[in-house]
Amino acid sequence: MKITMIAGSNREEATSTYLLQYIGRQLEARHQCSVTLIQLRELPLPFFSPNAYESDANARYLVQQVAEADGLILASPEYHGSVSGMLKNALDYMNGSHVSGKPVLSVSSAGGPVGVSSLLNLQTIVRNLHGVNCPEWISIGYGSHSFDSNGQPTDGGVRERVEQAVGAFVELTRLLTAGAAAAAYGRNA
Ligand SMILES: Cc1cc2nc3c(=O)[nH]c(=O)nc-3n(C[C@H](O)[C@H](O)[C@H](O)COP(=O)(O)O)c2cc1C
Repeated sequence: MKITMIAGSNREEATSTYLLQYIGRQLEARHQCSVTLIQLRELPLPFFSPNAYESDANARYLVQQVAEADGLILASPEYHGSVSGMLKNALDYMNGSHVSGKPVLSVSSAGGPVGVSSLLNLQTIVRNLHGVNCPEWISIGYGSHSFDSNGQPTDGGVRERVEQAVGAFVELTRLLTAGAAAAAYGRNA
């Protein structure tokens, strides 16, 4: 299964990006997924315009990685009770044809203990792109967003949460991928 992850923080040493990198290693080692991590701070995108969205090479790469994925993981810092502008701009490049029917796991990092507002906002965007929100989500925040030199969360509760939420996301992705394959087989039989 191919999983595309999008890191929405424009901060060096961003905790939401560290968390995604940790999740990516879990997906590869435990679940044999093929993982692409897109760090938006390294993939500058113009402000989205419906008039010119296909003219930018970075935007085409982003959309292609999303379109080819079986499942998506979106990570954002919590900014003013919502997602980062950089991630919202990237998501404006998507439409239902890229995301529809795909499972999406939302992840956030907040200054407070948890970043539920950004997760809810992410899930609203996913719903409007006709993606399938994973019933689990992950948020780290004050007291739980440090990582050791190997990139492991130092908080055991975060490691446990990641295992649980990523397991649920992988299971959902397997079910939806198998369902889509069966439906395609039925159409072609
Ligand atoms: C512009 C801005 C707005 C923020 N708004 C919130 C907020 O509404 N709630 C919150 O808990 N933290 C807020 N924070 C703190 C960040 O969510 C926190 O530092 C987070 O860990 C950053 O994620 P990152 O390490 O992935 O960049 C804000 C930070 C900035 C710079």
